[in-house]
Amino acid sequence: MCGIVCYVGNKDVKPILLEGLKRLEYRGYDSAGLAIQDGEEIKWHRAVGKIVELESKVNGLEMKGTVGIAHTRWATHGEPSEDNAHPQRDRDENVFVIHNGIIENYHVLKRKLEREGPRFRSETDTEVLAHLIALNFDGSLSDAVRKTMSQVEGTFGLGVIHRQTPGEIVVARRGSPLIIGVSDNGHFVASDVAAMVRYTNKVVHLEENEVATVTADDFSISTAQAKHIERSTETVEWRAEDAELNGFPHFMLKEIYEQPMTIRNAIRGRLEPGEGVPKLGGIMPVWDKLKECRHITLVACGTSYYAASVGKYIFEKLTEIAVEVGLASEFRYRKLNFPPNTFIVAISQSGETADTLAAIREAKRKGASLIGIINVVGSSISRETDAGIYNHAGPEIGVASTKNFTSQLTTLTLLALLLGRHQNLSLTEGVQAIRALEALPGLIEKVLAQANHIEAIAEKYYKYGNWLFLGRKYNYPIALEGALKLKEVSYIHAEGYAAGEMKHGPIALINPEMPTVAIIPQDEMHEKMFSNIHEIKSRKGPVIAIATEGDDKVREVVDEMIELPPVLDFLNPVLAVVACQLLAYYCANFLNRDIDKPRNLAKSVTVE
Ligand code: G6P
Repeated sequence: MCGIVCYVGNKDVKPILLEGLKRLEYRGYDSAGLAIQDGEEIKWHRAVGKIVELESKVNGLEMKGTVGIAHTRWATHGEPSEDNAHPQRDRDENVFVIHNGIIENYHVLKRKLEREGPRFRSETDTEVLAHLIALNFDGSLSDAVRKTMSQVEGTFGLGVIHRQTPGEIVVARRGSPLIIGVSDNGHFVASDVAAMVRYTNKVVHLEENEVATVTADDFSISTAQAKHIERSTETVEWRAEDAELNGFPHFMLKEIYEQPMTIRNAIRGRLEPGEGVPKLGGIMPVWDKLKECRHITLVACGTSYYAASVGKYIFEKLTEIAVEVGLASEFRYRKLNFPPNTFIVAISQSGETADTLAAIREAKRKGASLIGIINVVGSSISRETDAGIYNHAGPEIGVASTKNFTSQLTTLTLLALLLGRHQNLSLTEGVQAIRALEALPGLIEKVLAQANHIEAIAEKYYKYGNWLFLGRKYNYPIALEGALKLKEVSYIHAEGYAAGEMKHGPIALINPEMPTVAIIPQDEMHEKMFSNIHEIKSRKGPVIAIATEGDDKVREVVDEMIELPPVLDFLNPVLAVVACQLLAYYCANFLNRDIDKPRNLAKSVTVE
């Protein structure tokens, strides 16, 4: 989704902006642009398509300057076009604005502005900001931005420059993240730390409704009411090499292979094998309330929602707590009736998903306590929840989430285990779970070792246009996630189903042209899944089984088999999903898809 990168310092700004935009590419976009203060002038360029299009436009052009703003746009108001790309400008080309988010009252403002003078050159909501800031400008750009903030409704992360205030960038935030990066060579502002991590890991997060004036030597943060705020810098964990391919052809594959390491990171320092209880410092602020809690609702979107759905089964297995799962986009509009002492657990890789953020705000208004299971440290959800657990999966660049999903499953298991041990889960069961978590990275390696075999399966089936994924209990959400992964990166139509529902519809689709991926580990659902496989085979449907190693009974009836090492039943999803991820990856690769940046998808969906 849209991305912002700005720089003001002592270095040539053009290459810094282009590099920053490339680092934001993974978030998804359809056009890009930049504006550079070059002496008395502001020079600007925009292009539809990839950053290289913009790069080839501006390369060779004289654009000297050390102050600039740049943007990747993901169209919301108006098609992807040069006119609609950012920066947007006012009539006299004094003000240049880049904007993430949506101005909800832009229609009203636009009509009013058009009556008063400025002609609009784009279909964007952003253009009203440029005109308003120009009209509100009276020598101070930050005052003009503040006044404009009071006139607009909606969400924004803004970067603004003005011809008459050279050497400064004004940025503002409401509902869309912005981070100031502090370096010896000047200051950065970006919507995502990825854009600046090559230059600095010292950052300052802007909070809701704050404005900052950023110059080469200084930055000053204030509220919408112009009250000065002092805030010190934080150090982020990201390393520049996290955003490099390191020899892998795609980030998705790199991130799939990182999973043994990322799971180790998720459990590091958190396991106390002797007592069979994990240690989760981040939730201690709410522990007294949480340990008495009997109702939890897990809310999330996309892949994080499927992690939540597996989490529900794990909580039910390990605790006495009643657990509900909610799609954040629906949850936010429900009439919420919580029993007393309800906890909402928001699960999000980015910590910025607009629907999840809105859901927790609504839940808070209704009196629930909030926990975040988040990957990006310092993100909006992590800041707005009462307590939380970080996944420590590191930056996930591939748009389709992989390593973060298995880290989410791990942290959810830790939380369930902690609560379960406080309730009726025995020491023996606690110790057993902890030993199993410790062994997980090694077991994932065994699944990864079958990559060539999975690639060969993909080669055989990638031309089939419709796939079915089936699972039961813990692996029902993995069927959904497996189907989602395949759709996202290969554009093959795939449906995920609870296998018990097959006879209520999907069985009508089964024929020799429709492969089914059946997740059938040796657990209590094995026999039922086995019957489903028979039903498919008797209708001549090809079956790719993801089964426990040595399961000859399954091997005899299916067409292909991917083997999972044995593990506790509630941890099977972590292994099964790795097989699904590889299958999706290789199918997409045979189809020559843009695997890390699939069409129409964004890494982080910061608008509704
Ligand atoms: C987008 C991404 C998905 C992700 C979902 C939720 O749709 O493409 O990969 O699962 O957002 O994102 P979150 O950051 O909240 O986990």
